[in-house]
Amino acid sequence: MPDTFPRPIDGDAERARWTASADAWDRWADPMADLADKLNQPLLDAAGVTAGDRVLDLASGAGEPALSAARRAGADGLVVGSDLVPGMMAGARRRAAEMEDGLRPVFTAADMTALPFAAGAFDRVTCRFGIMFVPGVEAALAELRRVLRPGGAVAFMVWGPRAGNALFDTVGEAVAARLGEDHSLDPLFRFAAPGTLAEPMRTAGFATVTETDITPVRKAPQGQPFWRATLEMSFGHRLHALSRDQRAELDAEVTRRFDARAQDGTIPLPIHVRIVTGA
Ligand SMILES: C[S@@+](CC[C@H](N)C(=O)[O-])C[C@H]1O[C@@H](n2cnc3c(N)ncnc32)[C@H](O)[C@@H]1O
Repeated sequence: MPDTFPRPIDGDAERARWTASADAWDRWADPMADLADKLNQPLLDAAGVTAGDRVLDLASGAGEPALSAARRAGADGLVVGSDLVPGMMAGARRRAAEMEDGLRPVFTAADMTALPFAAGAFDRVTCRFGIMFVPGVEAALAELRRVLRPGGAVAFMVWGPRAGNALFDTVGEAVAARLGEDHSLDPLFRFAAPGTLAEPMRTAGFATVTETDITPVRKAPQGQPFWRATLEMSFGHRLHALSRDQRAELDAEVTRRFDARAQDGTIPLPIHVRIVTGA
């Protein structure tokens, strides 16, 4: 972990990196859908999303959990997905268009610190792995409270500590070793310590704030490039410039590092996420 962690979030750099990695997020969204759903459902449960709800999903990226929320909210509900970067939502819109009539969420570009929605417009707000990239978290929380109806609820999903997330940790070490450290992963772990998001939520006026950690261990088969999605989604902005040989060397470095963790032909991949709710 860098000694200056946590460093301030640079909003322009975040916008640039998400714009540069939008194609990778779109490409990996379908192959990762089953895995992603294991995180969507507890998040939607925590937010209390049920049929008929008006739901706002912030930082929807390639579409989740907005698409899953729309299936729950049903034809009597309304789900709006939103993201700072229009390019991130191209795939989200395409996936929504494939859904049944009446269930489709709508997607709109929006910075979560200045939301283009009326006060009290939503019953539930969700945000999976997005709040950590926003420089002014207080402004985002104030906007959330404004667009939630009285008695509404918000649920965030954030990453726990880097050391508890083997995919990021190992891929990040390999990238740093081959391409040099650029601290791309730091913002992901901004709210890794317990209380670090709960506290500003209380300050923002959320009455009941809860934190729940989820720590599954995924097992990946040794010899498979199961890490490719993480590499391309987290470091897409750095991969574009690599030659074919440099990319092959990087891939070999990642493989070597995961092989070192293998046990009987499988690689245990601990995951640590935290759901933080406010009502
Ligand atoms: C890690 S992705 C998460 C995408 C999706 N929710 C998921 O879990 O797959 C983070 C997203 O946050 C978005 N983002 C960053 N800053 C934002 C802001 N200020 N307002 C809204 N979205 C933002 C990025 O464009 C990116 O799509």
